[in-house]
Amino acid sequence: MTFMTKLERKGDGGGSVPDFSLTQRGRSGLQILGSIQRYSAGSLRKVAADTFAENEEAKALSAEHEADKNPDKKALRQRIARAREICESDPNYRMERFLQRYVAEENFNRGIPAIEERREQFEKFVTEKVEPVEGSELTMAAEPPAPKYWTDVDWHLEPGGWDGYDLYGPLFAFGLGPLIFKFGGYAAVGYGDDIIEQRMSAIRQFPKKSYERIYEPGCGGVSTLGAINKVFPGAELYGSDLSPLLLKNGYMLANKMNFPVHLKHEDSTQTSEPDNSVDGVITYALHHEMPPKANKELFKEMFRIMKPGADIVLSDPPPFRAVSLFHSVILDWDTDHRAEPFFSTILESSLEEMMEEAGFEAVEAYSIGQDGYPWITRARKPAETTEQGVAA
Ligand SMILES: C[S@@+](CC[C@H](N)C(=O)[O-])C[C@H]1O[C@@H](n2cnc3c(N)ncnc32)[C@H](O)[C@@H]1O
Repeated sequence: MTFMTKLERKGDGGGSVPDFSLTQRGRSGLQILGSIQRYSAGSLRKVAADTFAENEEAKALSAEHEADKNPDKKALRQRIARAREICESDPNYRMERFLQRYVAEENFNRGIPAIEERREQFEKFVTEKVEPVEGSELTMAAEPPAPKYWTDVDWHLEPGGWDGYDLYGPLFAFGLGPLIFKFGGYAAVGYGDDIIEQRMSAIRQFPKKSYERIYEPGCGGVSTLGAINKVFPGAELYGSDLSPLLLKNGYMLANKMNFPVHLKHEDSTQTSEPDNSVDGVITYALHHEMPPKANKELFKEMFRIMKPGADIVLSDPPPFRAVSLFHSVILDWDTDHRAEPFFSTILESSLEEMMEEAGFEAVEAYSIGQDGYPWITRARKPAETTEQGVAA
């Protein structure tokens, strides 16, 4: 879920949108996937949800689920597994899931050939030399950080993972983003939801009116940093990611769109940022792509680089306890079927607890959209801290 779908900036003059497009064949092949996804999430899923709601056992399990706000992980897992069996007895549910998987695979089976038809132009678009905006910098690692949990996965069924195809940037920005993802109805994104507006709403959860320096771990191709630049135009923007491809692409786009960024190719759980150096941290769609251990390390690291009194805002899919049992089944499915190995593990965990463990205060979590998404967790580093951490 890392792409920009609305790159155009009035008057940026930097050519952040290509002056060519996909072929008619390439575009229509993706458009039909967008329509299938809309039918799956907007029509079939509602029928399946109604059938589930009428099932007596599902009613009892759902009541248990609603009442259990602090569920034991094993019990929760068993409840979702049984609910899935009930769902799977319904052909509408099975067809809905089949279509979701079909679209998820075809995004790349059709998307890559569609981009290939325009390879020469897209290659030129992503590799042409762009003058860096004053103050911008991109620092690549001499020894690439590559945790196994990140390198071994074809994320979202992308062949080769995040860096598996040199033109994934254009594929997301000018193919899958505007023709498929834009309509919502996949993974945690609700049907009809506007993914660009969701990002802006998440950024608006920062409690202060202005920030000097905002840091985004796992910043990918700078979609969120670009949106932060609109909400907090005065803030200096910093980010890190493991993906050289996303970072280089994001740096190129930020320069074309004329906003300065400081990007580093490094593991966000062990950054080279100084202690107490940023007054805002935001994450977008990151935690469900990291195992719990890495998340805990990340929170510790963010705590270290944050100034006393600084704010942190996380935006990620909702925990199972915050959504209906039927929707839990839908989310849980992504783990095995859309190459999201940590999805369920994180959705049955509590990011709030992890943040409290790391020393944050005023931790709160809430939803700002349908079906609990985006799910916001926000907190503050205490104003008074000792060298060891929080003041006694
Ligand atoms: C779903 S993408 C979200 C990207 C970006 N936050 C956005 O809003 O578009 C998750 C990103 O997290 C990055 N990531 C995962 N683990 C990381 C880690 N330990 N350090 C830095 N980046 C990481 C991935 O490379 C990927 O770019």
